[in-house]
Parts: sequence; structure tokens; C-alpha cells
Amino acid sequence: MSGYCVCIRPAQPQDAGEIEELLLSAFPTEEEARCHATARRSGHVVSEFVATNIQGAIVGMVALGPVWHERVGPEAAALGIVPLAIDPSWQSQGVGTALVWSALNYARTETDLVVVLGEPGYYARFGFQPACHWQWENQYQAGDAFQAIWRGGEEVTVPPGLLVYAPAWRV
Ligand SMILES: CC(C)(COP(=O)(O)OP(=O)(O)OC[C@H]1O[C@@H](n2cnc3c(N)ncnc32)[C@H](O)[C@@H]1OP(=O)(O)O)[C@@H](O)C(=O)NCCC(=O)NCCS
Repeated sequence: MSGYCVCIRPAQPQDAGEIEELLLSAFPTEEEARCHATARRSGHVVSEFVATNIQGAIVGMVALGPVWHERVGPEAAALGIVPLAIDPSWQSQGVGTALVWSALNYARTETDLVVVLGEPGYYARFGFQPACHWQWENQYQAGDAFQAIWRGGEEVTVPPGLLVYAPAWRV
């Protein structure tokens, strides 16, 4: 971690343009920016946090979206971290770590199950394990990159099966 300072705060509607620019700079294609904008328009961004630098510019973001179980009612079974992005010039300075903890702290108030699609080498530090451990599958054939944190204790109330992201992310 460097000595740089960022502030983490909930995203506001007026941040949308800056967040889109950030997603375009952090990912190699426009897909994440497009999907995230669609998810927001569809009401499928449950919570979103941004990291700002000392000038107030957004240098990182994380969002949580609903994830449904293919066979369990209309209520979301989990929250998914989707997406997480750090401005390339701010990467490897702890900003992603701070944002993931913010998202996980928020998620704790809403759900026992959080999922993510990403590098196990990054997400294991937060307690994520491959979701296949609980026999939860995903729609992307992502293997061990589909990870979960279960906080509901020994009795796992979300059964094995397919966990499905919001339509905006069904690419
Ligand atoms: C991946 C990403 C979110 C990490 O955020 P960050 O702020 O750069 O990372 P942090 O400073 O919190 O953590 C740095 C640590 O993570 C590791 N790390 C970073 N990216 C990694 C990756 N893709 N795979 C494995 N480890 C990774 C670094 O090696 C470093 O390890 P260390 O703590 O042992 O030194 C960021 O690099 C990013 O936005 N990348 C482009 C978009 C992306 O891939 N988003 C994730 C989609 S799920």
C-alpha cells in the first residue's frame, strides 16, 4: 500500500458519467461499461461505492447486483460484486481492497451470500472460495473464478444449483 489517500463513499446519480469513463479505462473493452449502465437503468445496482482522490475525482468503483437462484423464488438469493474497477494509474495501491471491504460490509446487512467472478488469487484474501464448494454454478462456465462467501453459518439455506446474474450481465 502506498501513502496515497482515497475516500470511499456511496456513489451518487451524478457520478454515472465519471464511473463510465473509469470502466472504459480499466477494462479492455466497452462491455463492462455498457452492462453496468444497463444494470443501473434496470434498477439492478443494489449498492455502489466509489473511491475518490484528494481532488474528489473517482479513481475506483465497486457495485453489488442481485443474483438469483434458478429454482428458488423471485427474491434474490445473493448479491454479486459486479463490477470492480480501479483507474490504471491507481492500481496496486490498496484501492480495490478498500472497495471490496466496503461492498462486503454493506452486503452483510442484506444477505448471507456474496458471489464474484474474478481472479481467485485476488479474491481469496477476502474469504471467497470457489462456489463449486457449495455446488453453486454460474452461467459463464467460469470454473473456480466463480467464487462465494457464505456467512449464514453451518446450515446452508441456498441449495446447490445455478446462480444467475441480472439480465444486463447475461452476455
Ligand atoms: C483487479 C483490480 C480490481 C485490483 O485492484 P487494485 O486496487 O489494483 O488491487 P489492490 O491494491 O487492492 O491489491 C493489490 C494486490 O492484488 C494483487 N492483484 C491485483 N490484480 C490481480 C489479479 N488480476 N489477480 C491476482 N492478483 C491481483 C496484486 O498482485 C497485489 O498483491 P499483494 O497485495 O500481494 O501485493 C484492479 O487491478 C483493476 O481494476 N483491474 C482491471 C479491471 C478488473 O480486472 N476488475 C476485476 C474484475 S472482477
